[in-house]
Amino acid sequence: MKATAIAPANIAFIKYWGKKDEALRLPLNSSISMNLSNAYTTTTVEFSKAFPQDTINVASDTSFTTFTHVLKNSELRIIAHLDRMRKLKGTDMRARVVTKNSFPAGAGIASSASGFAALTVAAAAALDLSVSEKELSILARLGSGSACRSIPDGFVMWEEGNSSETSYAHSLYPPGHWDLRDIVAVVQSKPKEVGSTSGMEAARTSPFLEARLAAIPGRIARVKKALEQKDIHALGNVIEEDCLDMHAVMQSQKPPLNYLTDETREIINAVRRWRSGGLAVCFTIDAGPNVHLICEGKDEQVISKKASEISGVQQIIVNKPARGARIVTEHLF
Ligand code: DP6
Repeated sequence: MKATAIAPANIAFIKYWGKKDEALRLPLNSSISMNLSNAYTTTTVEFSKAFPQDTINVASDTSFTTFTHVLKNSELRIIAHLDRMRKLKGTDMRARVVTKNSFPAGAGIASSASGFAALTVAAAAALDLSVSEKELSILARLGSGSACRSIPDGFVMWEEGNSSETSYAHSLYPPGHWDLRDIVAVVQSKPKEVGSTSGMEAARTSPFLEARLAAIPGRIARVKKALEQKDIHALGNVIEEDCLDMHAVMQSQKPPLNYLTDETREIINAVRRWRSGGLAVCFTIDAGPNVHLICEGKDEQVISKKASEISGVQQIIVNKPARGARIVTEHLF
């Protein structure tokens, strides 16, 4: 009745921003991502008839004491997710959940993705549910959209679908397919003020949303081809295009949402300079100011060094492509 899972965060090459069904978390568009080896959540779940209520303990490097609203919201979402899992099993047993991130939560590294993927896999095992990878992906999606992409291995595509059963993620390539890196330049490690869920509710108020959505099928095809051919330049072009379009949508929503800071812009400019100098590197940014630098393994050291020399950069997290969520034998309690 106790199980522990590890799930990676993932970085989207084609982003998810906006839902066609809020309750089911059906996205407005398909997306593609890579799982991250060094940004993950470990979660232990135990169900017992002896527990009078659910208890959730978030152990993290970041102190949550000053951000109680963040903790409250995530607690409610975790309990709602446990209810989903309990319903599948037909039980009302309460749970004890202890969860731990390897990275600062809420700062543009997808903590809800790794968090809900780990919770889904651990809870399913603790309840002894027999569910396929596809079903785990669908369940994880109901907790947080991007979490469905942290279930399968390596390079992953989330098919938008038009119903809960058809909106899930599957692996395009295993982690060993291409020796890419996601070097995260952390410029801020405190939780963001507006989270992705509430932020993307207003996506439709942007006049640019339709233009971005119209461009997505072409971009998906370009990312798939770049992955197939391991073409870093082609991948970089399309990743940056979609990232900047998503931020244009965010910034033109009503009310506008700006996740980019002066430090973010400084890193974007540096990436453009390094590229003019012949380095194959591109950037992408989620709902936070931190910048993900995508490059090939052979350029990891020179790019990590350059990034760490930028004054606003507090920490560098180097990620390789990783496996998806999995059960481990060592428990957190
Ligand atoms: C900007 O998956 O956190 O990181 O489904 O409401 O939980 P909810 O949203 P979430 O959104 C992630 C948005 C993004 C882009 C991406 O990862 O594709």
